[in-house]
Amino acid sequence: MQNIRQALPQDLPYMYSIALQTAFAGLDGTPYFYDQWCVGHYYAAPYFFYEPDVCFIALDENSRVSGYIVGTSDTRAFNTWMQQRWLPVLQDHYSQIKDFKSEAEQSVIKTLLKGPGEGLWQNLGYPAHLHIDILEHLQGKGIGKSLMLTFFEAVKKKGASGVHLGVDGRNTRAYGFYERMGFEILEQQNWGSLFGRKLT
Ligand SMILES: CC(C)(COP(=O)(O)OP(=O)(O)OC[C@H]1O[C@@H](n2cnc3c(N)ncnc32)[C@H](O)[C@@H]1OP(=O)(O)O)[C@@H](O)C(=O)NCCC(=O)NCCS
Repeated sequence: MQNIRQALPQDLPYMYSIALQTAFAGLDGTPYFYDQWCVGHYYAAPYFFYEPDVCFIALDENSRVSGYIVGTSDTRAFNTWMQQRWLPVLQDHYSQIKDFKSEAEQSVIKTLLKGPGEGLWQNLGYPAHLHIDILEHLQGKGIGKSLMLTFFEAVKKKGASGVHLGVDGRNTRAYGFYERMGFEILEQQNWGSLFGRKLT
């Protein structure tokens, strides 16, 4: 599609902004965060720096960056890079923060301080993972599907046989979307569900 293209460095401010504007279980997180950067620092920007060829953005009719899909074809390698290269300087800063505007902000900062764990599904046939976020005015127009299909092709080309992702249990809209896109629930957690889809 013409309104989807590979992400570029110039897109980064918009990616941070979109990450925040969809941070509250898919809804606008702006009122819940003192720190406007922490969401993008963990859930958007590192993917672009690690593997830009599998990160894509969506433009609206005015050519404004209004959505993205970011991810990696190799979660195990990405997680190692996150822990060793991306997170330490951020952890130095965020470990000083003691005042949170909401549980949502506290939870994101706690996740950033801990970093990605061992994970399971990347070793069980779902090596890729992703995050997709589209601003409200561009939702429901088929853009999510186009971004997803573009991402599937990109990670398949790099050898990924499956993709997994996590969804907040309160984000019921996303559940419907992922099921429509061929994902099934792999595992239930207290915070939501892990979904997976084979790419063969
Ligand atoms: C969830 C999200 C990515 C979906 O993208 P979208 O552009 O709105 O979805 P699309 O219009 O591309 O829908 C693709 C297909 O899924 C279907 N679909 C979308 N939402 C659905 C739902 N809640 N239930 C069932 N089907 C749904 C559409 O009907 C469409 O079906 P079709 O292939 O038959 O036409 C987008 O709404 C979004 O970014 N929301 C806010 C952030 C968010 O929640 N991100 C996910 C965090 S885990």
